Amino acid sequence: MNHEVLIKTTNLVKQYPMGENHLTALKNVNLEFKKGEFSGVVGPSGSGKTTLLNILGTLDTPTSGSAELLGHKVEELSHKASAKLRNQSLGFIFQTYNLFPVYTVFENVEFPLILLGMEKMARQQAVMEALEWVKLTDKANVRPAQLSGGQAQRVAIARAIVKRPAVILADEPTANLDAENSYNILNIMQELNEQLQTSFIFATHDEKVIRYLKRIIHLNDGLVVKDEWVKS
Ligand SMILES: Nc1ncnc2c1ncn2[C@@H]1O[C@H](COP(=O)(O)OP(=O)(O)OP(=O)(O)O)[C@@H](O)[C@H]1O
Ligand SMILES: [Mg+2]
Repeated sequence: MNHEVLIKTTNLVKQYPMGENHLTALKNVNLEFKKGEFSGVVGPSGSGKTTLLNILGTLDTPTSGSAELLGHKVEELSHKASAKLRNQSLGFIFQTYNLFPVYTVFENVEFPLILLGMEKMARQQAVMEALEWVKLTDKANVRPAQLSGGQAQRVAIARAIVKRPAVILADEPTANLDAENSYNILNIMQELNEQLQTSFIFATHDEKVIRYLKRIIHLNDGLVVKDEWVKS
């Protein structure tokens, strides 16, 4: 496989049991994501965006077909191996921030580095660099409850970027933010994409996010109906 291809799906199908039948959330999805992309999966509510992102992120497995992450078929990995691969190469940003409430901002951003076994001095430096990216060094010692929504999402970005993953998956990251905060985090993510070549894959129906995307993948009822490059 071309090493520039970070994620690849082949005939990906995802079904959920529903009574005696099943619901097909993804229908034969074939996609490739390369290094440095700033892409988004868009489509109406229920079209399969979150399902697709979760499978790309190894948080879920396909019913049939395959999803490859950095050359590894996700469905063939053990639970432990997929957790390790996910922790090393992926960052996640969710609609609801998902920060640990009892940890400080610093500790939230530090957490993935502890999982990676990084030593303390290196962790300290990486966390402060990540907080500089999102302009929150002054909030290092506060807890998430003391942050605004925009600040909380910037902590989530710092936590995603701190280990310098190949890909960041962001599911509706602006859904709880006003326009100003949405543009603020989009500008940060665009800068990270341009300066660190971190790939971003969004799931969104927010027009503000869509304006920033270089590639738009349109999902409808579990099918990719259009895949277009809108900027180079
Ligand atoms: N765990 C689950 N069990 C059963 N059905 C599910 C499950 N998760 C999602 N679905 C169904 O799969 C379909 C796709 O859901 P998904 O969450 O991927 O949509 P989405 O495009 O992210 O929607 P939204 O824009 O509302 O977030 C929906 O019909 C949903 O009801
Ligand atoms: Mg969703």
